[in-house]
Amino acid sequence: MTNATSQLDRLPPPVWNQPPAASFPIRPLSIGGVAIGFPAVQAALSGYSDGPMRIVARRLGATYTLAEVMIDRFIMELKGRRKTQHHLRITDEEHPVGGQLMGSNPVDFGPAAEKLVAAGFDVIDINFGCPVKTAVGGCRGGYHLSQPHVALEIVDRVREAVPLQIPVTLKMRRGIDDSPQSRDRFFEILDGAFARGVAAITVHGRTVDQKYVGASNWDFLREVKAHAGSRTIIGSGDLFTAQACIDMLRWTGVDGVSVARGAIGNPWIFQQAQALAEGFPMPEPDLVEQRRVLLMHCELCISATNEATASSTMRAHSIKFARLHPQPDAVRNAFAASHCLSEWRAVVDEWYSKTT
Ligand SMILES: Cc1cc2nc3c(=O)[nH]c(=O)nc-3n(C[C@H](O)[C@H](O)[C@H](O)COP(=O)(O)O)c2cc1C
Repeated sequence: MTNATSQLDRLPPPVWNQPPAASFPIRPLSIGGVAIGFPAVQAALSGYSDGPMRIVARRLGATYTLAEVMIDRFIMELKGRRKTQHHLRITDEEHPVGGQLMGSNPVDFGPAAEKLVAAGFDVIDINFGCPVKTAVGGCRGGYHLSQPHVALEIVDRVREAVPLQIPVTLKMRRGIDDSPQSRDRFFEILDGAFARGVAAITVHGRTVDQKYVGASNWDFLREVKAHAGSRTIIGSGDLFTAQACIDMLRWTGVDGVSVARGAIGNPWIFQQAQALAEGFPMPEPDLVEQRRVLLMHCELCISATNEATASSTMRAHSIKFARLHPQPDAVRNAFAASHCLSEWRAVVDEWYSKTT
């Protein structure tokens, strides 16, 4: 995933030249019976969207967050061991929060979904999008887009295992590849899943083959939303700025947008999107604010795990935070070279003490 993030960070976001729509309505998002609110949510992000990242996002305006994907068998093996316990830990301030499942065999999904429900997740999401080699090679994630009957059996198993008041949702890419057959299978799964009681579907406008190369196809998202009608569609792909969130809502008509790489190191994007929607664009956070949030994130990591884990987690996140600093390359390199929390704090003190 690190390659995916660095490779894609270099790609320019697409430009959607729509005329300003003064009357463009932004409706609050609901997922089944769960009221979300402003429709910019934080995506599931493997290696990133752990408890501390989710709390930071919530405190800074995300209305809903998703935990990083968990493999069904891994969930079943989590037996309260200290090292892995935090994967199922949710704090009060996180709700509503979604837990995401990935696996290969439909029969394994039901028990794993029950475990996510017992842990307190408000929404259970199924991953039919992961493009990484180990997932697709292991018949998981995006692989299921090639076999609608298995994908829909998974939906049935999860929907049956989860109490009715808890929404089940899907995450899909727009297909395995660009073939007409892949497209047909996408819509077969989409319609079949809604018919089986799925409450919302997040669609990433890239194919599995595409991985992260090239743009997310927002025209396809628009087509999906037109097809879905009143059924809830959340769009994903190339949401790197608050403006892009508003543009996607406006251009595609989707009910919500799922911010992924754009939220790593920039949790302000959620309140910026809301401010923009209300006509009061917000400036970028100054260094005092960036320092406050970096230190808050670090404290949350220490409480959730331990100093050693917090050190490597914060190194990964702060490298992304550095993009907002006036000297991004120097700050990025300084964070990358930190090997323990005291070195990491020294970088924060050196680069985030001035007010400009
Ligand atoms: C580092 C990384 C981790 C990801 N982990 C997950 C995941 O656990 N579950 C999921 O459904 N999607 C995952 N995704 C996909 C994102 O949620 C999103 O669909 C994708 O990055 C496209 O959005 P973007 O172009 O705005 O980043 C991940 C993406 C990245 C870059």
